Amino acid sequence: MEDGNIKLFLSLLSRPQHYIRSNMTFSQSSSSSSSPSAPPSSSPPSSSSLYKATDLPHLTLTNTEKKQKIEALLSPLILTEAQQQQVREVFLEEMRLGLAENPERPSSLLMENTFIPQLLDGTECGEYLALDLGGTNFRVLYVVLKDGKFVEENVDYFEVPRELRLGPGEDLKGSSAGRNFKLGFTFSFPMTQKSLDVGILVSWTKSFNCSGVVGQDAVSMLNKAIHKRDNLNIDVNAILNDTTGTLVMGSYLDHRCALGIIMGTGSNGAYIEKVERIEKWLGKHPEKEMLVDIEWGAFGDNGVLDFIRTQWDNAVDEQSLLVHSYTFEKYYGGKYMGDLFREVLLTLAKEGCLGKGGVGKLATHGSITTTTVSTIEKESMEGEQATARKALEEAELEWEEEDLEVLKYVAGLVSYRGALLVSLLVGVLLQRMERPHCTVAIDGSLYRHHPRIRPLMEHLIAKFAPGHPFDLRQAHDGSGKGAALVAAIADRLHKNGATTTTTTTTTTTTTTKD
Ligand code: BGC
Repeated sequence: MEDGNIKLFLSLLSRPQHYIRSNMTFSQSSSSSSSPSAPPSSSPPSSSSLYKATDLPHLTLTNTEKKQKIEALLSPLILTEAQQQQVREVFLEEMRLGLAENPERPSSLLMENTFIPQLLDGTECGEYLALDLGGTNFRVLYVVLKDGKFVEENVDYFEVPRELRLGPGEDLKGSSAGRNFKLGFTFSFPMTQKSLDVGILVSWTKSFNCSGVVGQDAVSMLNKAIHKRDNLNIDVNAILNDTTGTLVMGSYLDHRCALGIIMGTGSNGAYIEKVERIEKWLGKHPEKEMLVDIEWGAFGDNGVLDFIRTQWDNAVDEQSLLVHSYTFEKYYGGKYMGDLFREVLLTLAKEGCLGKGGVGKLATHGSITTTTVSTIEKESMEGEQATARKALEEAELEWEEEDLEVLKYVAGLVSYRGALLVSLLVGVLLQRMERPHCTVAIDGSLYRHHPRIRPLMEHLIAKFAPGHPFDLRQAHDGSGKGAALVAAIADRLHKNGATTTTTTTTTTTTTTKD
């Protein structure tokens, strides 16, 4: 491990930006920074463009020729029934290959064994810590559990620093003196787990790309950093993904939870699988079930989803930090949806279907954010259009009133496709798990702030998995609090003498670079 990375963890551990006392709602603080702010409407609602959350977006233009041209150009964003069916089949097949001991070809799905065979059983008691790294913030949590319930919660938020620096770490030093803490570490990147407390980074995703970490065990990196500090008596006893934390947090809220999803900057899912189906987990195991981290962000990295890939997906990928990787995540993830929207508008401007000539700033990567897309969607549902207007002005286009309808249509299409794709996967998982009822725990900024994702998913999942009752349940801060719960489960398993290490074979497509 590079020294710089020890410094990263140490500096993250030692630079609290603010400290929030116990028993408060974590989510208020974590969501406030990215909350979309809708400017007041500057024009009357256009009733013709009002649509329900679950409608397929439609374009309302008086110029029929232009309308038809736009619809034809953008038709690749609307998946046909046959394509939807193919996505389902390919997902199932990639899951099978990802779980196989000797797959015929590498799968794009990691299907990683989390080594968490059980959820909470209500006996968990004690103090636990959690670290959550993977989004825009880095967090440290302290919780006290009694009979499997939170009785005290504290959280520190940190911004991930640009420069690696060593800080004094006074807060944590002071609080840990003389006591030992078990710590759950949420590391929201693809990793190969050798045990509950060993996670080898497979590749970075989203906005992270620190050199020298791919192929390293994130737990030993963190342990080294911690143990360099005399007064820190902390053992990292579990490493997990944010989707795993979300699932466990979901099970805290509702014991029927068997699927955890993140739709935020990135996207992924974890579910409960039968151990007999995890063929690559060599040896005999007494466990019946196991949480599996799918890593569906990489779905299609081996080309199996090319049949739905559009020119705009290619453009987004080419401009991304980690090119030719995380295909599925780039179709709708919060880090990418704004750029996808912008790329589609750029094509329309070039084709003479948006503005009065020229492309303004539409060719500038990052100039339109996912928050803008969410807000345009919210306003479309309310008959407002202030944000669409603002986006056209900021793009420095010469535009006319009907262009607002075009923006709303494009925002609707990219959002609908994202919700549809995730719902297709969820439908497959519900059918596979065959539970009498499945609560799906879900979190992430895109899910929280986009007004149509939830209603659309409820509508589409019910269509794709008929006869499989489910609820979508928001698990606020599952990646943080879920990690503390996993530390408690790991502690219980350890005390009960359960084995948490073994060997798995891994054969997946990895096209990312460090
Ligand atoms: C990471 C996953 C994570 C997801 C959501 C993806 O980019 O690879 O591990 O679960 O983002 O944070």
